[in-house]
Amino acid sequence: MKSYFIKTYGCQMNIHESEKIAGILRDLDYIEADSDQNADIIVFNTCCIRETAEAKISGHIGEVSRLKQKNPNLIVAVCGCMSQQKGVAEQLKKRFPFINIILGTSNLQLLAEELSRQTQKHSLIDTAEYNTVTEMNSYRTSGANAWVNIIYGCNNFCTYCIVPYVRGRERSRKEKDIVAEVSYLLENGYKEITLLGQNVNSYGKDLDDGSSFSQLLEKLANLPYKYRLRFLTSHPKDFTEDIIDVVAKYDNICKSIHLPVQSGSTAVLRNMNRRYTREYYLDLVSKIRAKIPNAGLSSDIMVGFPGETEEDFADTLDLVKQVRYSSCFCFIYSRRKGTPGYAMENQIPKIVKTERIKQLIAAQNVITREISKQFEGKTVEILVDGLNDKYSDVYCGRTDCGKLVNFKCDKDCTGEFVNIKINRSQSATLFGEIVKD
Ligand code: SAH
Ligand code: SF4
Ligand code: F3S
Repeated sequence: MKSYFIKTYGCQMNIHESEKIAGILRDLDYIEADSDQNADIIVFNTCCIRETAEAKISGHIGEVSRLKQKNPNLIVAVCGCMSQQKGVAEQLKKRFPFINIILGTSNLQLLAEELSRQTQKHSLIDTAEYNTVTEMNSYRTSGANAWVNIIYGCNNFCTYCIVPYVRGRERSRKEKDIVAEVSYLLENGYKEITLLGQNVNSYGKDLDDGSSFSQLLEKLANLPYKYRLRFLTSHPKDFTEDIIDVVAKYDNICKSIHLPVQSGSTAVLRNMNRRYTREYYLDLVSKIRAKIPNAGLSSDIMVGFPGETEEDFADTLDLVKQVRYSSCFCFIYSRRKGTPGYAMENQIPKIVKTERIKQLIAAQNVITREISKQFEGKTVEILVDGLNDKYSDVYCGRTDCGKLVNFKCDKDCTGEFVNIKINRSQSATLFGEIVKD
């Protein structure tokens, strides 16, 4: 039996794509290895959103040369966003000549073909096209939750972002295919479906059959199963009222909305090509809170975008305090070759960026703690995701509004809906005990 080991970097899109890679390998009778040390194929499913991600991955690929010396038959494959960047496949091949296969984001299906005629001497570099939207059999690993792609690519070209260059233009899957996949997953016991796209609320715009994200949500929410529906990620400019209304209307659509703002300054947002203002965003948040009072909002925010002044940054801090996100991913702007941001003047010195991110994280931490504290003493329903990685008897799951809850349980309760009384909170995480009915 040959075995595989997949190392995944980056966003949920990549996590799901690794499930598809596992699906391909299992179809070829590979089994999962418990470490890279004894695998016959190691796949790096890469991310290039920030320089730090690329540096880390290059380090990890470098380390594999040792394993390759021990086992010359080891196959090393690199795929995903990093290798899709212009010229990077060639650079990788030069720097790490032991790599056997390099694929991009849109031609994973070639992995099977390539593997079946793989020899050490031969290597494949093919990262060219985006035209196919092929759904492959996934080997799902995410417990009670299953990821479902609804749209690939991105048309937004935010000026800092590499994603449109490595994932191509928006391609929506047909509604009937999505409904069929979700129904199949629910039939097979999944209790939560997370719809995936770089911008899920662009869904349907590229199809000329009248499909829209809110209609898709409504159709899925009406499927006759007890389950939860989530979606990631929403672009504020496309978060229209019909979407708010559908989320508000259906109990099984989770009230947790990831709505990345990126900056609280209209001037910076303009330079980022985000196509909304600070006021528009705050107004959208008010509309969401008015119709979905218990919504948990989360965000991505970047500091140190070229030209960001102290006032701009103060606007970001102020917005964070106004919106009161349940959680927030904070990033230091990273210059990405090939994006308009790369060439912009007024790049911000590292020391300033570091100072700003410290302040931002500190401000959000206070809010995160305060929001978590409000749950103490309350009873919440969660869907159990599975065991907490660190402990053998602690399970975890999420509330409808996206809060992570840890609790003890003496039997496997993965995939069950349980009520938990919250006893304490620590930062973003809640701790509690099962309430027996
Ligand atoms: N499609 C999603 C997220 C894409 S990437 C969206 O539009 O919201 C996830 C996050 O990484 C982004 O929201 C952004 O905050 C961050 N990011 C993207 N490019 C970056 C860069 N060059 N430097 C630092 N952070 C970046
Ligand atoms: Fe990147 Fe902007 Fe597209 Fe998100 S919407 S993937 S941040 S270009
Ligand atoms: Fe990274 Fe690609 Fe996702 S660049 S964040 S893995 S879309």
